[in-house]
Amino acid sequence: MSSVESVKVVHERMDQFEQCDNQLMLGGYRLEQIGAMLGKSVFYAYDRSVITKQVQRFRAVIPAGIKLHYAIKANPYWPVVQHLRSQVDGFDVASQKEMLLALQAGMPVTDISFAGPGKTDAELLSAITAGVTLNVESAGELKRIVKLGEKTKLTPQVALRINPAFELKASGMKMAGGAKPFGIDEEQAFELLADIGAMAVKLRGFHIFCGSQNLKPEALIEAHQHTFALAAKLVAACPYRPNLINLGGGFGVPYFAGEKRLELAAVGQSLRQLLTQYDAELKDIELVIELGRYLVAEAGVYACQVVDKKVSRGSTYLVCNGGLHHHLANSGNFGQVIRKNYPVAIGNRLSSDTTEQVTIVGPLCTPLDILADKVSLPVADVGDWVVVYQSGAYGPTASPQDFLGHPAVAEILL
Ligand SMILES: Cc1ncc(COP(=O)(O)O)c(C=O)c1O
Repeated sequence: MSSVESVKVVHERMDQFEQCDNQLMLGGYRLEQIGAMLGKSVFYAYDRSVITKQVQRFRAVIPAGIKLHYAIKANPYWPVVQHLRSQVDGFDVASQKEMLLALQAGMPVTDISFAGPGKTDAELLSAITAGVTLNVESAGELKRIVKLGEKTKLTPQVALRINPAFELKASGMKMAGGAKPFGIDEEQAFELLADIGAMAVKLRGFHIFCGSQNLKPEALIEAHQHTFALAAKLVAACPYRPNLINLGGGFGVPYFAGEKRLELAAVGQSLRQLLTQYDAELKDIELVIELGRYLVAEAGVYACQVVDKKVSRGSTYLVCNGGLHHHLANSGNFGQVIRKNYPVAIGNRLSSDTTEQVTIVGPLCTPLDILADKVSLPVADVGDWVVVYQSGAYGPTASPQDFLGHPAVAEILL
């Protein structure tokens, strides 16, 4: 599948934003106006109505018995976290800093879970003190949690993160199946459960997160079937009744040419059937799906301005004041095997009868700094706005902003 899309196809696909006078609008503002508000010509802009719509898309088809958590790592921008606070049922955090964001947003501690390998004693202590649920990544981590709990005279709230034997097929990133640094191998978990009743922790339940960026309903359905079966076995092996099963997430968004939005109807139907099938085994246990990019990626654009236009041996380059230091994922260096173009546009001239093939690059002195390679766009010049869609997740905080010392990128939620 070619990664080059016509301007028309990109605009049909990126239908989440308004357009006015051939210009892209976010929250009712043109890019030039957003730049003027920020006093910046390079920024991420997020549209709150698109985030809300994504939550609604989820709620419309996923059974109400399944709670929705937001994985803050996808976009920890404070206004975004606050916006999602009232729309989701919990937050999942991957660091102490994210944990403090979640707490200060007012999310109840019982609805915050802290996952990730290599948690330091300081981080564990912080979570135990707050009362947040620790998703335990190894037997060694559990030992350290018990010790810290004894020291503080508090009872750590824990969920065992399980590395199941199965995997989430067709995922952008796989976090389960085979040997993994994440979670406790399924086989080992059953051994731990035999002993955990005697440990000074409260076992809340299990976290079974298999992968991310999945656009295949059938793969998600298959993983859910395995996850429910495993959860039922784990619950049966617990010394007392747990109250939480995190079923993972993995719902993807379409980034590249030929990809379509995840069709959730069949996933919802299958979950409904699984709820009925496992009603007795999982009764009264809170079930959670945790999503990051699905909720925020489509809501954001990265915008920068053309600083220079040049032709080199027949190839036309738009050289911009933004690049991979702000948007590593778009440069293809955040989990992609082969670089493909994110959907891009000239935001202040969305369509035109005259188009040309251009390569859009950033200001960094490296051939990796590509915003879009050989794309056909309306003829653009210095001062025009280049827009990268699908940029609301894994943006500034997943990028090497200090690389070469260029100014940091601004953000705004509209
Ligand atoms: C444990 C955990 N939860 C949630 C996420 C969020 O994934 P996504 O943004 O693809 O939904 C990840 C991604 O790495 C993860 O490791």
